[in-house]
Amino acid sequence: MKRIAVLTSGGDAPGMNACVRSIVRSAIYNNLEIYGVMRGYEGLISGDFKKMDARSVSSILTRGGTILKTARCEEFMTAEGRNKAYRSLKKNKIDGLVVIGGNGSFKGAHTLYREHKVNVIGVPGTIDNDVGESDYTIGSSTALNTALHAIDHIRDTVSSMERIYVIEVMGREEAFLAIRVGLAGGAEDVLFPYNTYDIGKMCDDIREGRSKGKISWIIVVAEGAAKAQDVEKVIEENTGYEARSIVLGHVQRGGSPDAFDRILASRMGAASVEGLIKGKTDKMVGIKSDEICFIPLKKASIKDEKKTRLEKELYELTKVLAI
Ligand code: F6P
Repeated sequence: MKRIAVLTSGGDAPGMNACVRSIVRSAIYNNLEIYGVMRGYEGLISGDFKKMDARSVSSILTRGGTILKTARCEEFMTAEGRNKAYRSLKKNKIDGLVVIGGNGSFKGAHTLYREHKVNVIGVPGTIDNDVGESDYTIGSSTALNTALHAIDHIRDTVSSMERIYVIEVMGREEAFLAIRVGLAGGAEDVLFPYNTYDIGKMCDDIREGRSKGKISWIIVVAEGAAKAQDVEKVIEENTGYEARSIVLGHVQRGGSPDAFDRILASRMGAASVEGLIKGKTDKMVGIKSDEICFIPLKKASIKDEKKTRLEKELYELTKVLAI
């Protein structure tokens, strides 16, 4: 192992830069040459490689986004795209590749390994915390705190004006952000993708709550479950009470990573380099009970039933505490 490369892929997440910094500096510390690939798999296909040195990652530890840029690359989903990517890696004499991204990016990395035997290690960087077998992903803690900060602000006006507020957070198929921010933000209810919900029953609860003196309501909706504006309308029509809605959107993806994500990114980045040096491939760096581990990439892209069970338990607790 003499020369390795790193790319960021899929939706950016706070802490990706901290991870790039860790990979670049760990590689140099271990006498490896290190290249950054621009725009994820797009740069791998077009051969957009940049030699990195210790100074090229100065002052990025605190910055959100990714200096390597990122993309969702359709061409890489084709065998021809992956052939081109493989040729670029060969041309640049790259012995190992680190992919920072989510489960879609890992499917691509696993296929690249299967078809071309490229040494590849994944590092989970996504606000959704939706990769299998790792307790956390880089960016999920910061995104959760960003959403919580917004909800705390909204709560001030909700309780002052005695309204019902519907807040949409990110998560097309996942509920991590919605459920956790619901619990941490004292929401009355959370609508999330893999759960059936009954808005009629929610309206009954609101009416009953009002009759008992509960005056304000916060309902968190994951984007994959419903549109906040639609829920707002149904509530107003069914209860006659004033409701408002907001979509937090990409605000949740930006900002400086919190301490948890910086530490996680630094540990995972260093572990990915160490893993490549030790001959590990087709694996994702994960964290379980605060210990770094290596998980087969294929498993990392499968839904983790244990994590889903935990989220459902946290949802049940939110409901208990909302009485
Ligand atoms: O990166 C994950 C994520 O933020 C999801 O939570 C969200 O559904 C999706 O990306 C949004 O993607 P885009 O930025 O392409 O609209």
